[in-house]
Amino acid sequence: MQIDIITVLPDLLVSPFSHSIIKRAKDKGLLSINLVNLRDYTPYARAQIDDYSFGGGAGMVLMAEPLVNAIESLQKKITYDDIIYLTPDGKTLNQQVANNLSLKKNLLMICGHYKGIDQRVRDHFVTCEISIGDYVLSGGELAAAVLTDAIGRLLPGVLNDESSALTDSFQDHLLAPPVYTRPENFRGWKVPPVLLSGNHKLIEDWREEQSVQRTQQLRPDLLKNKP
Ligand code: ADE
Repeated sequence: MQIDIITVLPDLLVSPFSHSIIKRAKDKGLLSINLVNLRDYTPYARAQIDDYSFGGGAGMVLMAEPLVNAIESLQKKITYDDIIYLTPDGKTLNQQVANNLSLKKNLLMICGHYKGIDQRVRDHFVTCEISIGDYVLSGGELAAAVLTDAIGRLLPGVLNDESSALTDSFQDHLLAPPVYTRPENFRGWKVPPVLLSGNHKLIEDWREEQSVQRTQQLRPDLLKNKP
């Protein structure tokens, strides 16, 4: 999968994509991430990329021309399945959205800043608007990092069997069960004996039961959407 990200702060995104599972996905050639500096595409003096909002009001708006220059330049080399704008007024990201996007081949993400981007770019280029939650970040970069991580770990071959995405919370509308590792007894707090029984059927049943209990307790809303 190819993910291109248009941003005014490419440096901010270097670290999130240089570690752990996303690094492994890149190293294995399963994911390629291209950070595109918006300032490289502006025709305006002093690399200006934003301006005041027409009609007044506080906050700057990312101008249409640098964004469209960047998008159209990228589109000469690649056809995008989706052009995603990260914005607090987009569709809220959940596991289903991440699953669907992980099936695509080429994605372009646009990070907003300040008051956002000129509406005409949203109207004529953006195909999908995503929010990572009901709060406002200073820019779309951290949201693009979250979305890329959620998608990248789902690509076939990225996770090994032990960390399979199928057993993640939310994949079947249930939270994941509790997990334990060595030692068996820590300060007198013991691991549930069933996990040490070696009986895979019993362990599976226990985990399922714990998942349902945990979901009922912490996120009963998820059970309403369970197929
Ligand atoms: N940009 C600013 N806040 C955001 C949010 N909550 N989700 C996605 N992009 C954003």
